[in-house]
Amino acid sequence: MAEGIPALLLPQPVKVHEVRHTKIFINNEWHTSISGRTFPTFNPATGAKICDVEEADKEDVDKAVQAARAAEQRGSPWRRMDASSRGRLLHQLADLMERDRRLLATLETLDTGKPFLQSFFIDLDGSIKTLRYYAGWADKIHGKSLPVDESFMCFTKHEPVGVCGAIIPWNFPLLMFMWKMAPALSCGNTVVIKPAEQTPLTALHIGALIKEAGFPPGVVNIVPGFGPTAGASIASHMDIDKVAFTGSTEIGQLIKEASAKSNLKRVTLELGGKNPCIVFADCDLQLAVEETQKGAVYNQGQCCTAASRIFVEESIYEEFVRRSIETAKKIVIGDPLDPQTSHGPQISRQQFDKIMDLIESGKEEGARLEYGGSAVGEKTLYIQPTIFSGVKDHMRIAKEEVYNLFQFTTDGSDTGMEIFGPVQCIFSFKRQQEAIERANNSKYGLVSAVFTTSMDRALTVSAALETGTVWINCYNALHAQTPFGGYKMSGNGRELGEYALAEYSEVKAVTIKLSETL
Ligand code: NAI
Ligand code: MG
Repeated sequence: MAEGIPALLLPQPVKVHEVRHTKIFINNEWHTSISGRTFPTFNPATGAKICDVEEADKEDVDKAVQAARAAEQRGSPWRRMDASSRGRLLHQLADLMERDRRLLATLETLDTGKPFLQSFFIDLDGSIKTLRYYAGWADKIHGKSLPVDESFMCFTKHEPVGVCGAIIPWNFPLLMFMWKMAPALSCGNTVVIKPAEQTPLTALHIGALIKEAGFPPGVVNIVPGFGPTAGASIASHMDIDKVAFTGSTEIGQLIKEASAKSNLKRVTLELGGKNPCIVFADCDLQLAVEETQKGAVYNQGQCCTAASRIFVEESIYEEFVRRSIETAKKIVIGDPLDPQTSHGPQISRQQFDKIMDLIESGKEEGARLEYGGSAVGEKTLYIQPTIFSGVKDHMRIAKEEVYNLFQFTTDGSDTGMEIFGPVQCIFSFKRQQEAIERANNSKYGLVSAVFTTSMDRALTVSAALETGTVWINCYNALHAQTPFGGYKMSGNGRELGEYALAEYSEVKAVTIKLSETL
């Protein structure tokens, strides 16, 4: 992340004495909630309250949708604006984010507990690059002219979908915000965005920058609040045309249902995974050890892309586990605001308890705990990076309930529950075909990775893996240009890249009757 930068030159967090933006952002103005309610947001590293935020509920969402609808009507300044000017506004916002980068990274770290340098380099970089990527697309979104039968001519136009809702999770609050907002605006839509209740602060700061950048009122509206209230109102709103969601499978299912029962709004979902890595004996071993471990514990394991199931070829299994332990020892647990820290707390008590429960059940059931496995300190939300190696043949079989609760099975197949914590699970395999079958034995299909120096094997195996992304000799290699999304129950649709534009545009086919064919 900050490799090669001398400690003295590392970016530092800013001192936040008071959070400036804590209200609901509608029509480029700050609003208190109609109910008069607020909710607190906490620093997971200390448990201290950071501030109270206005709590949006259904009525506030209605107000935001009205503003977003008015802003996208034909004849509105936003609809009449040149596409190139839309692009310039997105670049302007990216410039302002660069200006406020240290503050945004500090707010992100205070709210999520993720290490400051990670916020500064990964989250901010990814967010700004996503904006600039879609800024570039704004005036390059166009249809086709089609050769059609008989004496007709047909051309297509790509038009905005309308008002787009977005429901954001707490693990990458700013990045997921940009993944949804940037393509939506690039295509000329307006948005109503609900940040997660745990992490509303960076989204609200972006509200201030939206106004400063000069976006017309109502183009971007931000409604901090809870899932079952504000979130559910977005999902079932009769005047929202599309909703994009990142989060749990369970809520993803509710959102599709809400769409079906309301106005059949378009739904794109980015849900969990039980992501397999296959490590072949001919790989660059150290690279594979480091990348798969980062994959498993990065962001305290709170990633939809987390490397949940690491399959290692039998002949290098022991050495792989040994090196993984050595690498884990270098992880620096500490205050997330300290630029030296590489591992922070989990987001909440609820998540912490779930992860500790799963670790305990793994220990009790005889999975081999190789490293970590405990909480750090008393009453904190910190969990040690943890490594389990595979279960032995004499242990209870996969379909037993307790194994179904935990991630382990005798064959490493999916047991349905994501840990979402800093836990690395290492299995061994003998044959390529077996590894592929076990990797695909999951109801999810988000990402996978293959480690080998044989290009032939890498391509053969990647063709067989049932996931939306396959990383070869790398992990978490995400780029604004590359589409991201899942097969199977990992979701629907694609974010990022040119592919995301289709999710945010309607295609209009215009057919003209010609008097004769010449
Ligand atoms: P969640 O799915 O409840 O939360 C994600 C977002 O959905 C938040 O903004 C939340 O307010 C909203 N939401 C919750 N209930 C809703 C409803 N009924 N209608 C509309 N929106 C709603 O996830 P949660 O409870 O925070 O975490 C539970 C598990 O979900 C985690 O342990 C993890 O396994 C998974 N998860 C996956 C994420 C991913 O990146 N794919 C991100 C966050 C959680
Ligand atoms: Mg929830």
